[in-house]
Amino acid sequence: MIDLRDLTKTFPGNADPAVDRLNLHIDRGEVAVLVGPSGCGKTTTLKMINRLIEPTAGTIEIGGRSVEAAPVHELRRSIGYVIQQVGLFPHRTIRQNIGTVPGLLGWDKTRIADRVDELTELVALDPDMLDRYPAELSGGQRQRVGVARALAADPPVLLMDEPFGAVDPIVRAHLQDELLALQQRLQKTIALVTHDIDEAIKLGDRVAILSEGGHLEQYGPPGEILRDPANAFVADFLGTDRGIKRLSLIPISDLDLEAGPVVERSASRARAVATAREYGTDWVAVRDGSAVDGWVRVDDVPTDGVTHAPTEAFQTRLTPESSLKEALDAIVSSHTSVAGVFDGPVMLGVVTADAVSREILR
Ligand SMILES: Nc1ncnc2c1ncn2[C@@H]1O[C@H](COP(=O)(O)OP(=O)(O)OP(=O)(O)O)[C@@H](O)[C@H]1O
Ligand SMILES: [Mg+2]
Repeated sequence: MIDLRDLTKTFPGNADPAVDRLNLHIDRGEVAVLVGPSGCGKTTTLKMINRLIEPTAGTIEIGGRSVEAAPVHELRRSIGYVIQQVGLFPHRTIRQNIGTVPGLLGWDKTRIADRVDELTELVALDPDMLDRYPAELSGGQRQRVGVARALAADPPVLLMDEPFGAVDPIVRAHLQDELLALQQRLQKTIALVTHDIDEAIKLGDRVAILSEGGHLEQYGPPGEILRDPANAFVADFLGTDRGIKRLSLIPISDLDLEAGPVVERSASRARAVATAREYGTDWVAVRDGSAVDGWVRVDDVPTDGVTHAPTEAFQTRLTPESSLKEALDAIVSSHTSVAGVFDGPVMLGVVTADAVSREILR
């Protein structure tokens, strides 16, 4: 859908290019994240795609067509742009901001009003805010407006420059989740810029790692980059917790679960002790039929067996969709070497610390 070939920009008066022979292909419906240190040419690249900056050399195609083939205003209609620092119009209300592009396209008032309402709901913005001005919104709310404004004319392509840069980590994580949910429904082709590697890993179907001077160091799915960094720059940029980061991308459903230390409600004390020993725990999970009631420390199991033992509820209930990173966290914070995986009340099995470390080495 987006094809950059040998794209280069050297600003007048600068000896070195800001973007240097960049080759990047983004499939339809894919999120490509450009990540790299400040000044490495990320914004310049996005601006060349919608022709806010003219390249010095190289070509850009969108949907198989050169971006120079049509008048620039037509090109920009097909591209939603979320500007770095949000860039809302300060003297226009939120409603007017979101309706900017439809207004330029000459939509009638009712159609614009309907579209603004639809987008307000889509980005989970409180409709009460529509008649306020940007300065009267929080940073996170403004960023939602920025996304809504970019989506207004339903463009197939979105360019997002640090769309969640101005908010705290909690709001940021929330907005990222919303973008992922939105993308599941809308299937846009997105080029998103960030300098936050964790954001890149979380949002990108593919991640482009750029270095100073606009050099592409590596481009690929985040799991692949984390497993096999192309060079020292990439490895360094990914950070020392690269192995742990990769775990966040692997769902528990990729592992073969072990049954875990589970005994029937009717089990004897000896059985509970033996089962716990087998898994190296000091506790067993207690099952009633297919449902697991909770767990009991083997030292607390009375001599007449598990039947009357007091069980405690599991603090963390992982599911097959949970990541191995979450599993590892559950293992570490429970002070045991295993974490239970559940489907509702049914315990599907356990993830062990060994299984996680085997996956890291794979
Ligand atoms: N109009 C311009 N004239 C001259 N140099 C420019 C111009 N715009 C950007 N540059 C330079 O080009 C390089 C890349 O800038 P760019 O804005 O693309 O970086 P970036 O990767 O988006 O950085 P950040 O993460 O800080 O936003 C920088 O060295 C910058 O100083
Ligand atoms: Mg920038």
